[in-house]
Amino acid sequence: MERIQKIQRHPLFQELFEKLQQLEKDRPFCRHTMEHFLDVARLMYIYDLEDGASIPKEVIYAAALLHDLGRYEQLTRGTPHDIAGSETAELIMKDCEFQTEEIEAVKKAILGHRDAASLSSDLPLTAYLYRADKKSRNCFACPSEPECNWPEEKKNLWIEY
Ligand SMILES: [Fe+2]
Repeated sequence: MERIQKIQRHPLFQELFEKLQQLEKDRPFCRHTMEHFLDVARLMYIYDLEDGASIPKEVIYAAALLHDLGRYEQLTRGTPHDIAGSETAELIMKDCEFQTEEIEAVKKAILGHRDAASLSSDLPLTAYLYRADKKSRNCFACPSEPECNWPEEKKNLWIEY
């Protein structure tokens, strides 16, 4: 998992991550913290194991770590964070020794992570990122759930296993 340490220590990752934490520190709804990124990574890895999809673990962790990094640009410039995030992922992954096809797979997954159609994608990384991103949220225990604008079908209102 050496390349994952490189992503986490990359100066652009660190800068955007810290700025995002500052911007969201008083946000009552879901924040985009390291806990969220790792919850998503671990769920994706479970889905991969259950299906026997055999996606390389570093590709799963790269997608999970990078999928919401574009939120800083969305909050400050209005660029949708799937688009901003896929561009940032490419810059960072190139510096962390990922190959072109790995970068393209992660970019596709990030671009699809807000689109429910991704659930039935024939690209497992894309389907897993969408599913894990939503299932990682504990709406049933969230005090802000009644005011949250997520559509009902995205909310997790009970513990699924
Ligand atoms: Fe997310």
